[in-house]
Amino acid sequence: MKLSVIGCGYLGAVHAAAMASIGHEVVGIDVDERKIASLSAGEAPFFEPGLPEILSAGIASGNLRFTTDMAEAQGARVHFIGVGTPQQKDGYAADLTYVNAAVDALLPFLSPGDIVAGKSTVPVGTAAELAPRISDAGAMLVWNPEFLREGFAVQDTIDPDRLVVGVADGEARAADILREVYHPAVAKGTPFIVTDLATAELVKVAANAFLATKISFINAMAEIAEATGADVTQLADAIGHDARIGRKFLGAGIGFGGGCLPKDIRAFAARAEELGRGESVGFLREVDAINLRRRERAVTLVIDALGGNVVGKHVTVLGAAFKPHSDDIRDSPALDVAVRLRGLGAEVTVTDPQAIENARRSHPQLAYVEDRDEALRGADAVVVVTEWDEYRRELSPERAGSLVNARIVVDGRNCLDATAWRNAGWTYYGMGRP
Ligand code: UDX
Repeated sequence: MKLSVIGCGYLGAVHAAAMASIGHEVVGIDVDERKIASLSAGEAPFFEPGLPEILSAGIASGNLRFTTDMAEAQGARVHFIGVGTPQQKDGYAADLTYVNAAVDALLPFLSPGDIVAGKSTVPVGTAAELAPRISDAGAMLVWNPEFLREGFAVQDTIDPDRLVVGVADGEARAADILREVYHPAVAKGTPFIVTDLATAELVKVAANAFLATKISFINAMAEIAEATGADVTQLADAIGHDARIGRKFLGAGIGFGGGCLPKDIRAFAARAEELGRGESVGFLREVDAINLRRRERAVTLVIDALGGNVVGKHVTVLGAAFKPHSDDIRDSPALDVAVRLRGLGAEVTVTDPQAIENARRSHPQLAYVEDRDEALRGADAVVVVTEWDEYRRELSPERAGSLVNARIVVDGRNCLDATAWRNAGWTYYGMGRP
């Protein structure tokens, strides 16, 4: 099928390449000329495992191309909208400028019978507002939220755990065309849920709100553990055995960040206020507050470990990305911890296997060292803030101990083997652990 994908950021670039890889003829469209040039050359503009391979294969096969010219959307049967919906500069709500601009630019090139499939995460009610403009052009709007995780985006797009398609009243046939688009996943029995437009929009924000709540729940338990001498990691293991609870997303630490969870829960709370239902999701403010407190907690542990003052102390921060397998530093708790320590007067050295370039651009005030061992040399304290395998599995406490000035480690992700580090002479501090 001929498809267009409007917006070639994280979501759109992966979606375009993934759709080409399952046999569709895809054009990716974006206003950013540099991004289009890089994608056209088969280069991913960000780190995402597996993306370069499907990009190059798609371009080589002739099934995938990228352009800045919206006119090239003409002739596609389905037009996916995958532009960003960032947090507004002066508030918590989502900024819909890019969604509206994409639809305005696409309208002149729609043909009767086309489908416009919104993938961007939007406040509930957005699709209902857009729908009349699209049906005036003889096309149909569906909402098809995306649940991909960074680091696993290719796999999550080609082989998702569910597909959700919201359709307007009387337009159920639009969902059948989406079934054709996602034929390999549909053929293997992936749940395919057809809803109305509002439900589809809500499914996405509800999923992210639930995940954020789960993380903040365990981080709240970490705070209680800290007051009582209990160990939150054992607590998580123990409650996680209950199949109704599950162990996933019960990793206590410095909390969630990234381009989705923080902004999505804020936008959800803002939308609920507009709907007069602010109190229904009032707990999301608490979820946000708990999350931000944990960054502060990691900083406090470093200060206490260094005797109450970090001025002039060398602190090595292991990690900058908001999570491993990503070079994304948007709202990264890792970088926030580094920035706070530096603000308190510490000499901070940051290292990360993938995210240094992005981090340097946004936080030039920090010192960056690419080589992990070089970064550890002479440290008065080490803080682990992104649980890359390079730190979690591949760094032996003995090796690290031979490089640093003092064997003090704050494990902001509870990802190290505390016993092994203590046995190697380190003073180990976890999050919510004695
Ligand atoms: C998230 C959703 O998982 C995905 O479905 C949605 O499409 C986009 O938002 P992503 O932002 O890629 O995906 O990251 P995710 O893996 O969900 O992690 C989010 C943050 O939570 C990271 O900062 C991670 O370190 C943190 N986290 C995760 C924890 O602190 N503890 C955990 O147990 C799990």
